[in-house]
Amino acid sequence: MAHDLLILAGDGIGPEVMGEVKKVIGWFNANGMAFEVEDDLVGGCAYDAHGQAVSDATMDKALKADAVLLGAVGGPKWDKVPYEVRPEAGLLRLRKDLELFANLRPAKCFDALADFSSLKRELVEGLDILIVRELTGGVYFGEPKEIRDLGNGQKRAIDTQVYDTYEIERIASVAFELARVRQNRVCSMEKRNVMRSGVLWNEVVTQVHKDRYADVQLSHMLADAGGMQLVRAPKQFDVIVTDNLFGDMLSDVAAMLTGSLGMLPSASLGAPDAATGRRKALYEPVHGSAPDIAGQGKANPIACILSFAMALRYSFNAGDAADRLEAAVEKVLADGVRTGDLLGPQGGTAVSTSQMGDAIVAALEDGAR
Ligand code: IPM
Ligand code: MG
Repeated sequence: MAHDLLILAGDGIGPEVMGEVKKVIGWFNANGMAFEVEDDLVGGCAYDAHGQAVSDATMDKALKADAVLLGAVGGPKWDKVPYEVRPEAGLLRLRKDLELFANLRPAKCFDALADFSSLKRELVEGLDILIVRELTGGVYFGEPKEIRDLGNGQKRAIDTQVYDTYEIERIASVAFELARVRQNRVCSMEKRNVMRSGVLWNEVVTQVHKDRYADVQLSHMLADAGGMQLVRAPKQFDVIVTDNLFGDMLSDVAAMLTGSLGMLPSASLGAPDAATGRRKALYEPVHGSAPDIAGQGKANPIACILSFAMALRYSFNAGDAADRLEAAVEKVLADGVRTGDLLGPQGGTAVSTSQMGDAIVAALEDGAR
């Protein structure tokens, strides 16, 4: 049976980097796998076409697909569109309506790139951490969320941070499960010193650990201190579990430890379906739409390609194929193939987006021989 992939390349560099993922999918199709790909719109391009950041028809397809691959959304062209239909709203609706509560953001330092990190080589060499970010709750979606006119020349802006027990339980379980197949350590981050939601977060994570995951090593950190520790001594961490907003910030910090935002993939997963065991899933690079370099063939497609590797692993039970793809990326980097973002202070010659994709496909082919 073919796997149905819905591709939402989006805006800016999204279509360019996704073009390289399609080459990789083509390679796997020629080598024993069966993916059926359909393209659709999300973000600013969807707004231009339908006046919505994601249409109901696209949402239907996303709900039915085996996995969604997303490029990036947004850009200055849509700065003035109404808030409800801004490009990011499309991404947020996909996350919310597919109930993709678990966002996995691995930050792995490739050996060939250890000198590109903003930290010293010895601090990041061999770094392999995983941020597990809650993705459908917290201040991103809490109500009320509004700007009120107070009628005295003042306005009041309100966002609401809200978490229920079950939301914390399920994200904590995902973190503990993943830790068991890694280094078996989880660090939970919140702000229990100022936020009630932080107090509950801490209590629930502690309880889930005690009830079901006592074999995993659990620690707690205040999220600000966690941010500091991430840049002081990142290798102390294995799995970090945190809420939607802290996870957004901490994952950008973690990304930079590895040298380039152009390298980091992510997976957003729902709960396993009771009947089929299948999880709804969306895979996307952590980077944005980079409008400043869009359309120039400069973007690094690796984050998007590694997001497809995560799809192989988490949606298609094809860990071997994921390993092969990751090894191909590693080989290309070790061979010195670099897009502009990976050039570093010594300079050198940058390859184009599509040359990087071709090199990765060639490495896949070599690895298969
Ligand atoms: C991310 C992005 C999104 C977020 C934006 C584009 C809405 O920053 O995926 O980290 O804030 O979650
Ligand atoms: Mg972010």
